[in-house]
Amino acid sequence: MPQIIDGKKISAAIKEELKVKVEELKKQNIEITLAVIQVGNDPASCVYVRNKKKACEFIGIKSLSYELEETTTEEELIKLVEELNERDDVNGILVQLPLPKHIDEDKIIMTISPKKDVDGFHPMNVGALNIGQPGFVSCTPAGVIQLLKRSNIDIEGKECVVIGRSNIVGKPMGALLLKENGTVTICHSRTKDLKEVTKRADILVVAIGKPRFITKDYVKEGAVIIDVGMHRGEDNKLCGDVDYNDVADHVSAITPVPGGVGPMTIAMLMNNCVESINL
Ligand code: GUN
Repeated sequence: MPQIIDGKKISAAIKEELKVKVEELKKQNIEITLAVIQVGNDPASCVYVRNKKKACEFIGIKSLSYELEETTTEEELIKLVEELNERDDVNGILVQLPLPKHIDEDKIIMTISPKKDVDGFHPMNVGALNIGQPGFVSCTPAGVIQLLKRSNIDIEGKECVVIGRSNIVGKPMGALLLKENGTVTICHSRTKDLKEVTKRADILVVAIGKPRFITKDYVKEGAVIIDVGMHRGEDNKLCGDVDYNDVADHVSAITPVPGGVGPMTIAMLMNNCVESINL
């Protein structure tokens, strides 16, 4: 039986720690406020935004909610972000993605002050991560590092293979594993012999976006598997990018889906909100 990396338990512990920190800050009259902006009614976004606000409430972070019409113009959204940038009582700004097609996401991300960019999406924060400077780090990959550290899995010197090169997960994941002194390879859709590369991994992070794609033929015996995927399978059950049942007996540790990486994203967002007072 592999070690099951329990993201539910680890994220709950992080949220408890943050709650204590926020209580301490309140005693010093420091309040943390997160502005959450959603444009339109994308059903998945509604769930994410609701969960983010619920986590704020649990930890003691004040959340300001901006639920804007689908027809909101790019100019209107930019104006709101600029106003929030200027407000001393707002520490973090989160614009839920995806945005409606008529709004340029990159332009909006660039408008958020890097000092309030708790998602870690602004090029300044992305650059800071890559040269080892302080800044906000994208929440999902930051959560993966916490899962490994809090499960006592060493990264230093290990062969770390990441599948997926998105700006939100794959690229910052590579940078973070490198910062922890892993030997990092990033694979993507043009990688020639994926199996040959993934079989080298001591730590394999999978963010490929295909349900149950990774079977034991892709995995070295005893590897650690981190599954970033989340899908609703044909059987209506939630599953990841990894075929859990196929690889489980073959690996030393694995994240389940649900209950692995998923709960960590919001915990790390909350961590970024608390860190915002130091940046
Ligand atoms: N949409 C899906 N994931 C995320 C995220 O982490 N942050 C934001 N802002 N939007 C998202």
